[in-house]
Amino acid sequence: MISSIVNTLVVLAALIPAYKNPKLPVEERVNDLLGRMTLEEKVMQLSQSYMERNDNTNNIAKQLDRTPAEIGSMINYGWDASVTNALQKRAMEESRLGIPIIFGYDAIHGFRTEFPLPLAQAASFNTDMARESCKVIAAEGYAGGIDWTFSPMIDIARDARWGRNAEGYGEDPYLTSRFCVAAVEGYQGDDMSKPGHLASCMKHYTGYGASEAGRDYTAVDISRQTLWDTWLQPYIAGVKAGSASVMSAFCTLSGIPASADPYILKEALKKKMNFDGFIVTDWGTTEQLMLQGYASSEKEAAKMALNAGIDMDMCDMVFYRNLKALVESGEVSMADVDDAVRRILRVKFRLGLFEHPYRPKTNPKKDYLQPASLELAEKLASECAVLLKNNAGALPLSKKAKVALIGPLADAAEEYLGCWKAHGFPEDLTSIYAAMSKEFSNVQYEKGCDFEGEDRSGFPKAVKLAGESDVVVLCIGEKAVWTGENKTRASIALPRIQEDLLCELKKTGKPVVVLVGSGRAIDLVRIEPMADALMEIWHLGDREGEAVSGLLCGRYNPSGKLPVTFPYTTGQVPIYYNARNICRRGKWGKYTDGTPLEPKYPFGYGLSYSSFEYSPIELDGLTAKVRVTNTSAVDGKESVLWFITDSYCSRVARPVKELKYFEKRLIKAGTTEVFTFELDKLRDLGFIDGNGERFFEPGEFIIRAGNRELKTEIK
Ligand code: BGC
Repeated sequence: MISSIVNTLVVLAALIPAYKNPKLPVEERVNDLLGRMTLEEKVMQLSQSYMERNDNTNNIAKQLDRTPAEIGSMINYGWDASVTNALQKRAMEESRLGIPIIFGYDAIHGFRTEFPLPLAQAASFNTDMARESCKVIAAEGYAGGIDWTFSPMIDIARDARWGRNAEGYGEDPYLTSRFCVAAVEGYQGDDMSKPGHLASCMKHYTGYGASEAGRDYTAVDISRQTLWDTWLQPYIAGVKAGSASVMSAFCTLSGIPASADPYILKEALKKKMNFDGFIVTDWGTTEQLMLQGYASSEKEAAKMALNAGIDMDMCDMVFYRNLKALVESGEVSMADVDDAVRRILRVKFRLGLFEHPYRPKTNPKKDYLQPASLELAEKLASECAVLLKNNAGALPLSKKAKVALIGPLADAAEEYLGCWKAHGFPEDLTSIYAAMSKEFSNVQYEKGCDFEGEDRSGFPKAVKLAGESDVVVLCIGEKAVWTGENKTRASIALPRIQEDLLCELKKTGKPVVVLVGSGRAIDLVRIEPMADALMEIWHLGDREGEAVSGLLCGRYNPSGKLPVTFPYTTGQVPIYYNARNICRRGKWGKYTDGTPLEPKYPFGYGLSYSSFEYSPIELDGLTAKVRVTNTSAVDGKESVLWFITDSYCSRVARPVKELKYFEKRLIKAGTTEVFTFELDKLRDLGFIDGNGERFFEPGEFIIRAGNRELKTEIK
């Protein structure tokens, strides 16, 4: 009897396909499933479609009608898992093999709770907090029905005119790498299949940030050397951290569209970096190969993209319409299609979607905007602001001061959400005005003028208020819609009207504190001399108001440092600290119109209410140490940035200096902290060549931290 039951169970188990058995290794399940799939089913896995922005539980029937049950992926614009559950049910129950859909979405710096822009986060140099913010995003996104976020954006940005500066971590490959790893770890956790995690997607691979003159979507030209030593660095780090996917870039890169370039996709990413996740195109990128003058037809575009190493086609359905015929005609090999399918299935298995395709019912009160998330949003925001000037201790302000709060950004909470605000709503926010009104005893507000335009009729009231107050706090900057995709600005100065308002306020003789909110570096050259204190506050998300108020009164001590160079003027861009030496010295290579060569504020610049003193750097073997003393009476956080210069390198001329490590710590008033950098020869003193090989060449190196530097020979 018992043996017959056992026999029956064995027979039944044998009937359950291996891919449905969670006990088997992922690769075994992938291979089993792949072996069962028809060509049509494979092509569906490589295709991503999108849901409508107004899809909800009442109108989902329409979406169900137009979406094939076999679709591989959908972009989901909703925040209620019952909508994605309905589509998932179709996929699980009505497709022949029951392969779950992977739902993606742009949760860039928030899903419902909005954190500071990635560019602002980079200024915090606080990767721990950034990682925590990504955990919150993952938990909220998961509750809202997504599996996958199109983040982090790790494009290097050296030209402030490019609107997408806001979405990335600035100009430095190492800083971007550290934040990339933090984001991947935050989204994916140590096991993506656990509830509350998302697959990450590093984008836009690659070169997109080098858009010519900052204009979005232009062709770019990057040498293999610079590709490896700059643009690919964050990807190398993110692949090591296990990022599940990569999104290919729109741009034509050195003559070949990035989404059809076998060198960067197959050779560099899949082979050299050993990336085993999948590559999705950016929106419509396959189709755009025609616009780029590369593919002569849609069919050719599909062939070029797939053959180059693209695995999933975002939203233009070009793979869907063409791949089957291309395989049948032999123009695309089944082996390449299988490789693409295998990569997508691997991520779906790793996400646990086969076992847990559905999400619990979304409960907005419980799932979103939790107090701990908002507290984190405020703390992180407070560390992102960068104090650029503070004459004679103009800041912090006394809470009892009579404050004239002026400017278009002071009571415009909707702007604090920045670009890619996902499901963040202005109603969730407190404006700087509202937050200061709670924290300070005497705050009066006048807008003065709008962000742009010629209407100066509000100036007199603002000037009158300034004249009656102890101090002016002027909040100016960019609107959220001036930043992000397709948001190039030809000038990075603020509109004239905002600078004119400052001029008028300055004439009152009252101290003026200027806060600039933006998604890029701003030309501050006319603003700075009129400001007694100047702070870059970016777009800081849900808790901008509270964080800024706290910074103004000293509840928070500014600790941000610039992740991008602030040019003196737009004419200097592209400008970045880690350029290579020019070939002449002295009077050579200057601007003839008197524009300085130096930027207004360099990468890594940022003040604090504390003052820090750096001891000389000591080197013991390959361990570098510096003691940093907080010589003030105020506790403060300091980020110690370690730079390396390789004075001469016979294989490739290296950048004038390179950030190699950083660490941020609280230094209590009057105390000293020892910061250590354990140098690794190959990693920190070595370099990477144009084939992606690291090498170390002995010789003279300069190690820098704060205002200290140490020159040394390293064999
Ligand atoms: C953007 C990507 C984004 C995608 C999906 C594209 O237009 O370039 O960054 O992830 O849309 O929304």
